Amino acid sequence: MTAPILRRLSELHALTGRWQAEGARIAVVPTMGALHAGHLALVSAAKAGADRVIVTIFVNPRQFDNPDDLAKYPRTEGSDAEKLAPLGVDAVYVPDPDQIYPEGFATTVSVAGVSEGLCGAHRPGHFDGVATVVSKLLLQTRAGCAFFGEKDYQQLMVVRRLVRDLDLPVEIVGCPTVREADGLALSSRNQRLSPAARARAPALFAALDAAAGAIGGGAAVAAALEEARGAILAGGFAAVEYLELRSAATLAPLAAADAPARLLAAAYLDGVRLIDNVPVPPAGG
Ligand code: PAJ
Repeated sequence: MTAPILRRLSELHALTGRWQAEGARIAVVPTMGALHAGHLALVSAAKAGADRVIVTIFVNPRQFDNPDDLAKYPRTEGSDAEKLAPLGVDAVYVPDPDQIYPEGFATTVSVAGVSEGLCGAHRPGHFDGVATVVSKLLLQTRAGCAFFGEKDYQQLMVVRRLVRDLDLPVEIVGCPTVREADGLALSSRNQRLSPAARARAPALFAALDAAAGAIGGGAAVAAALEEARGAILAGGFAAVEYLELRSAATLAPLAAADAPARLLAAAYLDGVRLIDNVPVPPAGG
């Protein structure tokens, strides 16, 4: 059955009010649409972990630091609804912009620490925009749990921090990155790659995966990162924006993999900015 599409907060509250009266546990999967199998994996995890599932689709202008990027963002509501139909989603919330940012809206949620560096250093205001809209979506949907992808690992850490700091009554569940058969992480941005660039794109994950294996096997971190950077460029990427080893728990920079770690990168291919990250097993572990 096709889930109802709700565009007004009052409609959403009418529905979630009924669900809460029934004692249902509500899950939310926040998205910006252009849904692919990575998003749908979050929906399946949400279905397994809750009684009712709401998918939100909102292209949030406040998290785009580049107006061109916002303008180019794919908007595919019809096919998104078709993809969600077989999954048994209970509601799709596609808020009219004034339901998120009513006239006079003046609040910004800003998470320090984990939002600094990595993508935060290169996309000014991005994580403020994410933290603000995610706060609103979690509260508006009255969700007891919310599902986010590890694909955007720094975003997941920002959301975890904000929920802890503001005592939001929501459990945050992180889900593994869904990849194409050749290793490329699914992303709506992949559609912007030319066929030739698409063929080269797996070099990013391949380099991260190899470096994570080397570091886990005891290789020196600086040398492994240098090798990975060289492999990404040799694979046809024009530039590596960042490539860093960080603590998986706090995102603090790490010089050695002596704690659970994450290797994170952003790089440009064919004018498209791709990000990816992988877990790094503890060295010698
Ligand atoms: P969007 O890019 O649409 O992603 C929605 C969710 O899908 C995020 O939690 C993201 O990490 C997850 N996701 C994307 N690609 C994935 C993949 N290949 N495997 C697993 N999960 C994947 O992230 C956003 O939207 C926005 O910033 C949002 C949180 C909705 C706030 O506006």
